[in-house]
Amino acid sequence: MPDEITLTIDGVDVKTTPGTNILQAAIDAGMYIPYLCYYPGMKSFGACRMCVVTAEQKTPDGEYRSLPGSPASCTTPAADGMRVSTNSENLVGLRRGIMDLLISEHPHGCLTCHRVELCGPSDICLRHVSVNDRCVTCPKNERCELKDTVRYLEMELDTPLTYNNRHLPLKVEDPLWEMDMNLCIVCGRCVRACDEIRGDNALTFTDRSGRSLIGTSHGTSLLESGCEFCGACIDVCPTGALVEREHKWDKAVKKVSSICPHCPVGCQVDLEVDKRNRLIRTSPDIHAPANRGQVCFKGKFGLEFVNRKERLRKPLVRVDGSLQESTIVDALDQVASRLKEHKGNEFALIASPRGTNEDNYIAQKFARAVMSSNNIDISSNLRPELTPALGDMLGSRAATNSIWELEGSKCFLVVSSNITEEQNVAAIPIKKAVKNGAALIVVDPRETELTRFATVWLRPRPGAETALIGGILRAIVDESLDDHQFLADRCEGVRELKNSLWAFDLIRVSEITAIPQTEIQEAARIFANNGPAAILYALETLAPELRDACVRGLINLALVTGNVGKPSSGLYPLYAGANEQGSKDVGCAPDYLPGYRPLSDSTDVDRFQQEWDADVPSSEGLTLTEMTAAIRDGHVKALMVAGDSPNFTNSELGDFLNAARQLELLVVLATFRSELTEVADVVLPSATFAENEGTYTNMERRVQLVRPAVGPKGDEEPDWRIINRIANLMGANGFDHEDAEAVFDELTGLVETYGGISYERLRSGGVQWPCLAADMSDTGILGVPEADAGKIKLSQMALPDVPNDVGADYPFVLAMGRMLHQADRPMEIGKSGKRNVIERDEVVEIHPEDAQDLDIV
Ligand code: FES
Repeated sequence: MPDEITLTIDGVDVKTTPGTNILQAAIDAGMYIPYLCYYPGMKSFGACRMCVVTAEQKTPDGEYRSLPGSPASCTTPAADGMRVSTNSENLVGLRRGIMDLLISEHPHGCLTCHRVELCGPSDICLRHVSVNDRCVTCPKNERCELKDTVRYLEMELDTPLTYNNRHLPLKVEDPLWEMDMNLCIVCGRCVRACDEIRGDNALTFTDRSGRSLIGTSHGTSLLESGCEFCGACIDVCPTGALVEREHKWDKAVKKVSSICPHCPVGCQVDLEVDKRNRLIRTSPDIHAPANRGQVCFKGKFGLEFVNRKERLRKPLVRVDGSLQESTIVDALDQVASRLKEHKGNEFALIASPRGTNEDNYIAQKFARAVMSSNNIDISSNLRPELTPALGDMLGSRAATNSIWELEGSKCFLVVSSNITEEQNVAAIPIKKAVKNGAALIVVDPRETELTRFATVWLRPRPGAETALIGGILRAIVDESLDDHQFLADRCEGVRELKNSLWAFDLIRVSEITAIPQTEIQEAARIFANNGPAAILYALETLAPELRDACVRGLINLALVTGNVGKPSSGLYPLYAGANEQGSKDVGCAPDYLPGYRPLSDSTDVDRFQQEWDADVPSSEGLTLTEMTAAIRDGHVKALMVAGDSPNFTNSELGDFLNAARQLELLVVLATFRSELTEVADVVLPSATFAENEGTYTNMERRVQLVRPAVGPKGDEEPDWRIINRIANLMGANGFDHEDAEAVFDELTGLVETYGGISYERLRSGGVQWPCLAADMSDTGILGVPEADAGKIKLSQMALPDVPNDVGADYPFVLAMGRMLHQADRPMEIGKSGKRNVIERDEVVEIHPEDAQDLDIV
């Protein structure tokens, strides 16, 4: 079969791939055929018939044969030599007839009103028609595909204002969206998006005979139907039937493409802004390579914080024990003069995972070049062990492969990660592949959403994960399931690894992990026999000292089974923060400079001293988790914190807040007042992602442009600019960048893997590093063999003991994690002001025998 075929659509040659339907081929070529039930990325449905065409197929003897009738272009595969006509008088007549039928059950005052071209979006309609039958009372006014299609068809707007009104009540019981089934055209896009794309099946067709509509299978609220509130149904709805509740009636005056700041998937979204400079809606970009038109509940409904009136707009300075509003000039002066007294190791800086690469590059440069301290980290970096082993063994501290390659994986190993909660969109290709027959091995003592999809769910004792991975490796080697060719060609240290695996006797591993030997062997066979296989790990339940060995074990497993350097395989460390990868890339770490240049290498330190024209300390600084103790012990006396993070108050950093009270100087760059700002000496208002220009780097190494959508309403500024102003007041050189692009240009000169990336390039789409030159394209897969590449060194493994980090005072291990998807847990919709909120008690799960011993019922 050829890789490419050519057909003619309305006389224009269109190239496409075999198997593509005519409609998609036209869409890809920038041509328009009306459609309502089709949606790019979903299977064809063939329900609305709006996409009808006439087509002639070329026979082997060069003749043309017409396809019978007027086939739907969404269900007809394109063929080489095919001739398609989309706009004949006959077809337009057919479509108008179909549309007449559709609007015989759809309020259509918005289409037939004689003022339809005259009224503006905010005009008030006084016509005597039903309340949901006026443009201004349809929440999708000017965003309605049905209306667009009628206009395209140039239909005479003389349809009588009578239609079969369904008189169905508005469904408003769910907290984030509203459903008006009077406006539904039963295209089924929402049901199919929920099933085909998201794998949730929260929506279905109801009342099939004659009154087919959309709802939940048992008529319950979405909260009870397994909905994950990703909003995919709203995004695909062509009419006003499904809409966001928040800002339902607000009209956008502009749309800005940017990146969601909530997790490392880096979803590209369109931010819609109204004339009052408020962010009113987000919709995911269907062409975005990182998220392919999807977001999660955080990206869809969790960006309202940008508009909150509680935002910090003015600096606060502590005067006589209380925080008082100040001018930005006075606040910055005070910070600059007081910081001068704390240079060296008594200064530390915690940057934000929501900070852009530019913010965090400047933050670490300030800490090093101005404050002479390597005490720099980001507030989400609670598991710094996720990537160093990747750097040591495979050469780059990052995921080896891209997110959507996971669709093609035949097996997944997910270790101690709650992907559907934390990196939600990355779970979509996994669920899709599993639905199509891929195997899924989940290693986690906790139940997560993915355990529902798992082929095998292994629940090791917390802390026994490395023993389990070693056991799986041992079983693979024992049964000779390893990829001999790959090991011979690409790896060294094979014998040493295999020798070290002798310690992983499966009976012993079974004792340590509390997992039967047969299950370990089954997992080994599944993983080794189903390639390409991908490994995703967050290590959320492992104690810090166990993590590095576990990562090395996972890398060994990928190498031993030949799952490195090819599509749909590899390793994915799962961070928590949106720009955690980028922050590390630009040097926001206590042990290396931008571009992962180690502080232990004096040549690198010298180079940065020259580049920055400043002294750079060469001793390693404190990590985030070491800072609390250092503050408490008085080693750190001045701290600058950028961004708001729950980690300051959720005890994962120990008693950080109480320690922070002992600081001589605490400067916080924040968007809201918080428990941390309340103990600060100076609080500087910081811009959110929606007001900021810069770049984020996502979990697949894709550098993407964050664009400002709303303007500032007070003194808030991007962190890099605030820090630059402080540096200038302190007399430092090299902090005079005109804009974010200038900061980026500076850092690309220092971070080799970013060398070929520029804003100009990013304006037309993100780029995956390493990108060493302007003419180098994305690097989607790391570890692809090169002619002169050396061999990858396997890591020897040691069998850890039975986890024994519990004592008399603390006899249990707390494995933390977020759990939203538990439909069986009772929840209620409550009110917070005018707002509806999900209310649910959080739970601590404990083994029944332990509970019994403790008399817990
Ligand atoms: Fe083809 Fe609906 S878009 S039938």
